[in-house]
Amino acid sequence: MSLPALRAGVCDVLGRRLHDLRISVIDMCNLRCTYCMPAGAYHERFAFLKEEERLTLEEIARLTRLFATLGVSKARITGGEPLLRKDLPRLIAMLREIDGVGDLALTTNGVLLAQHAEALKEAGLERVTVSLDTLDERVFDAMSGRSGRYSAVLEGIAAAEAVGLAPIKINAVVERGINDHTVMDLVERFRGTGHVVRFIEFMDVGNCNHWGREQVVASREILEMIQERYPLRALEENYHGEVASRYEFCDGAGEIGFISSVTEPFCGSCTRARLSTDGRLLTCLFAGSGIDLRGPMRDGATDDDLLGLIAGVWGNRTDRYSELRATLAPSDGSKRKIEMYQIGG
Ligand code: GTP
Ligand code: 5AD
Ligand code: SF4
Ligand code: SF4
Repeated sequence: MSLPALRAGVCDVLGRRLHDLRISVIDMCNLRCTYCMPAGAYHERFAFLKEEERLTLEEIARLTRLFATLGVSKARITGGEPLLRKDLPRLIAMLREIDGVGDLALTTNGVLLAQHAEALKEAGLERVTVSLDTLDERVFDAMSGRSGRYSAVLEGIAAAEAVGLAPIKINAVVERGINDHTVMDLVERFRGTGHVVRFIEFMDVGNCNHWGREQVVASREILEMIQERYPLRALEENYHGEVASRYEFCDGAGEIGFISSVTEPFCGSCTRARLSTDGRLLTCLFAGSGIDLRGPMRDGATDDDLLGLIAGVWGNRTDRYSELRATLAPSDGSKRKIEMYQIGG
């Protein structure tokens, strides 16, 4: 394809347009969620990326501008925990300047959010999504692999609200027998606040969370439980390819969502590219590796070289892991996958 044609946008083999970019800015985290970075595997001496291995903020901004040229209009900053990355507001200010990026958001665990909310807002961030799996502090400590962080997350949500990083979304991963009994507390707490709680089915991301189908609580089950107390009505999606299915409370107390990648896969409308901290382009959350963009960039690749490379990768994309999950042979299931903290979901 010629470069002018590329600038009009790119579709993959299954006709899915490149539309969103998830940017991981750091692979480190101040929590050790059992479903992402179990503390036993990610101990004190674990070798995270060295500073020179991470893309610089300028490199991230350059790549984001190129992705925008190819049709990306939604960007989301992730980690690990993105608020551990130094100078994040400077990156946000740079991304804000890019033509075409209309939606700029950040997914955080909230622990450091109270400290950074104001600077993030001033730099031009629009909204945040905060991970909070439960309001039971003991369950929170067990799931997040750390103690003493729970109240900081609640303070972080309050600070984000105070500076207007809205709408605030609250992501709760639900695991059977672990936090499913606390689902209604989250519903009750955030109903009527304008914040949107989204329940996420526990996924088999990465290689070390000992995922089993029996630990997944289907969204349908949670929906029915909530409906018994609060009637809900389904809403249209906000944009093509939205990951969460949206519902509103019939009594006008706001909205909730469900991310059902296991029981109702949404690969058919998956328009998301992912950029890892070390500059690899991944076309699926369950991909094994990725295409290195950092190497060519540091070896002097021009913008047109990089556009060609990215468009070529997207143009050849056939990923639909979640749709195929049930049919995968056990040997496929043991193939190494990228870890969640390397690409931020
Ligand atoms: P907005 O709709 O823009 O608010 O963002 P989002 O819901 O896409 O982002 P968020 O970071 O909150 O992601 C929510 C959850 O959905 C995370 O657990 C992600 O890992 C998961 N998720 C996001 N995109 C995909 C995807 O393409 N495939 C799968 N299987 N899960 C995804
Ligand atoms: N399954 C489902 N969601 C997960 N997240 C991290 N690991 C998993 C998993 N195995 C969620 C985090 C965060 C989002 C980016 O991904 O809780 O909210
Ligand atoms: Fe950290 Fe998020 Fe992974 Fe939890 S899910 S360990 S907060 S990167
Ligand atoms: Fe997209 Fe892969 Fe998730 Fe399917 S499994 S929705 S292709 S990221």
